[in-house]
Amino acid sequence: MDMMESLTKLREETESRLKQCRSSEELEQLLGETLGRNGSLTAILRSMGKLGADERASVGAFANRVKASLESTVNEKRAALNELKKQLRFEQETVDVTAPGTICRPLGRLHPMTQIYREIRDTLVGMGFSMFDGPEIELDENNFTLLNLPKDHPARDMQDTFYINENVVLRTHTSPCEVRALKSLEPPFRLLMPGRVFRVDEVDASHSPVFHQIEGFVVDKGLTLGDLKGILGAFVRAVFGEDVKTRLRPSYFPFTEPSAELDVSCSICGGKGCRVCKGTGWLEILGCGVTNPHEIANCGYDPKVWTGLAFGLGVDRMANLKFGINDIRLEYENDARFLRQF
Ligand code: DAH
Repeated sequence: MDMMESLTKLREETESRLKQCRSSEELEQLLGETLGRNGSLTAILRSMGKLGADERASVGAFANRVKASLESTVNEKRAALNELKKQLRFEQETVDVTAPGTICRPLGRLHPMTQIYREIRDTLVGMGFSMFDGPEIELDENNFTLLNLPKDHPARDMQDTFYINENVVLRTHTSPCEVRALKSLEPPFRLLMPGRVFRVDEVDASHSPVFHQIEGFVVDKGLTLGDLKGILGAFVRAVFGEDVKTRLRPSYFPFTEPSAELDVSCSICGGKGCRVCKGTGWLEILGCGVTNPHEIANCGYDPKVWTGLAFGLGVDRMANLKFGINDIRLEYENDARFLRQF
């Protein structure tokens, strides 16, 4: 076989092998076998020294064309294979942004106090009460004087109250909202007044200098203690369940006359007596009473015409009773391991 034939055959073979090449590794291998230092085309070119001058010129020119054409085919193939590889990588690395995520964020939950607050709020709103708001920094006058707490009343003791100045305090209860309501709204009304309150207290299992109250306040004509009992009974059954028993125990508050504390049968022992109710079978949950006529008069209404009913409850305490939490500090530490339980 003469050299021209070998070259032609080599070209055909190489081109057909090139067509079948599926990876750049195969391509480089093929390249080595033909155009590389020990490749078949290189071998043919080397052996051209044996030819006569005329033949060498024509075979040489042909061999160079073959070499150039193979090289350009190889380059095209290399580019095509690279493109293919890139395409494959893109396909593998595609992110389907519509696919559902695999990491699921843990769902939070409401703080026990928020839960009980919302339950109380919804119950009272269902009974026709509306929300009314008062400030946490309050005039001494609203927090005490107009609520019938005279200057020398023990509740005004420096030990109990955070004073900002002589006339301004951090409210010690939500009752000053009653004064604000009477001064800004026209009775009759039924109001629910929740919020944060403050007292100078050492932190312990049952005391926190910041805690939460909800004040209920109804003003209308001809209200009696019987109405109060009815409202509170319905309210307590909605929050603690139908089976709960209630009792009003006489008490004293300057802004109510008569005053009482409402007890509910102990939710832990069902009234038999346990550690939580200190063996009595009853839990004290709120203070209440018929609004003192002095308060109504202090706020500019005629107490012979307008009567009021009021109650104030501690949200922290209610949450503790309802969930069986025995230390108020747990409500404020915000330890997720604790809060997760409720
Ligand atoms: N303000 C009282 C307190 O913080 C609670 C209270 C008692 C509110 C009797 C009332 C009420 O509205 O009638 O201790």
